Amino acid sequence: MSAPNKSYDPVEVEALKPEQIERMRDEALAAFAAADSLDALHEAKVAHTGPTSPLALANREIGALPPHAKADAGKRVGQARGAVNKGLAARQAELEAERDARVLVEEAVDVTLPYDRVPAGARHPLTTMMERVADVFVSMGYEIAEGPEVEAEWFNFDALNFGPDHPARQMQDTFFVQTASNSGSAAGKGADSDGESGVVLRTHTSPVQARAMLDREPPVYVVCPGRVFRTDELDATHTPVFHQIELLAVDEGLTMADLKGTLDHMVQSLFGADMKTRLRPNYFPFTEPSAEMDMLCYVCKGESVGNPDRSCRTCSSEGWIELGGCGMVNPRVLTACGVDPEKYSGFAFGFGIERMLMFRHNVEDMRDMVEGDVRFTRPFGMEI
Ligand code: DAH
Repeated sequence: MSAPNKSYDPVEVEALKPEQIERMRDEALAAFAAADSLDALHEAKVAHTGPTSPLALANREIGALPPHAKADAGKRVGQARGAVNKGLAARQAELEAERDARVLVEEAVDVTLPYDRVPAGARHPLTTMMERVADVFVSMGYEIAEGPEVEAEWFNFDALNFGPDHPARQMQDTFFVQTASNSGSAAGKGADSDGESGVVLRTHTSPVQARAMLDREPPVYVVCPGRVFRTDELDATHTPVFHQIELLAVDEGLTMADLKGTLDHMVQSLFGADMKTRLRPNYFPFTEPSAEMDMLCYVCKGESVGNPDRSCRTCSSEGWIELGGCGMVNPRVLTACGVDPEKYSGFAFGFGIERMLMFRHNVEDMRDMVEGDVRFTRPFGMEI
């Protein structure tokens, strides 16, 4: 900055010469015009309007001028700065408009694009069916109980009163599991293959009954859904891996009437208020007496029996659909599981979920349930 000087002529101060001021203004305007982005414009703005810009420095010189020269120089610098600010604002508006237009194109969302390229899945109907049945009992206060799929032979058979040579042991066609302790005997004899490993893939959910009784003090009210295994070939009506649901109630004074009432309540909850069950004598080692349980055909309600005009696919016009097995828990089972049969009695039943799914939804081939084709599962997707 020059020192105050009374005889000072602004024209003499280099930075305040009119052509210099014009040059500064024109350079600023040219820099703004050349800025091709808002960032570049910001740099040009700092360079040409900031505190160290040529025009700002020139402006500072004015203070050192004699009073008569101040107005003239001030006017010139002021006009130049005004033009620069105007030019800046105009370019700023231009670049912002360009940016907004570009963002609209670049960040556009095509709301017409399909949104469902990843189709919604569906829970497997076996799962929903099992939960549906279990819920009937949970709402009555039963507890869900689970046991291992790889089960001790003792729980699967012995605790349930299957004698060592009981034909059911073969009848059930069991998968015996090779375990570390029995896999490599010195004689090279695989104990698993002749059924001596003591470990099986459970052939039914009934071993959970024994576990539940050993785990708790009576009264016991449990429902046990789960996967079971038998050495069947996979075909339209068999699968080596399938599902059962088991029920066990142990309390003082339970009778066959409680079993019957519970079964009726279950089929009414699942299939409608006018449903009922019937029991036919049968034999299971772990129940005495034992029965086969049938439910009224929920489609024809028995009306197809002896009525050729009203044949029923669901029950083959038999009026009843076979569900599974049931009975009063054999006192020997109670004893094996630490429950006093003099004080307590119990009832139990078990049935297959695949079968229920087949007749409830007219699934004709069991393989559809295991093959994992979503075209089978998806129609069940609306069931919760
Ligand atoms: N565990 C039997 C089976 O797999 C079914 C069964 C029968 C279960 C009678 C029971 C019962 O609880 O009481 O064939």
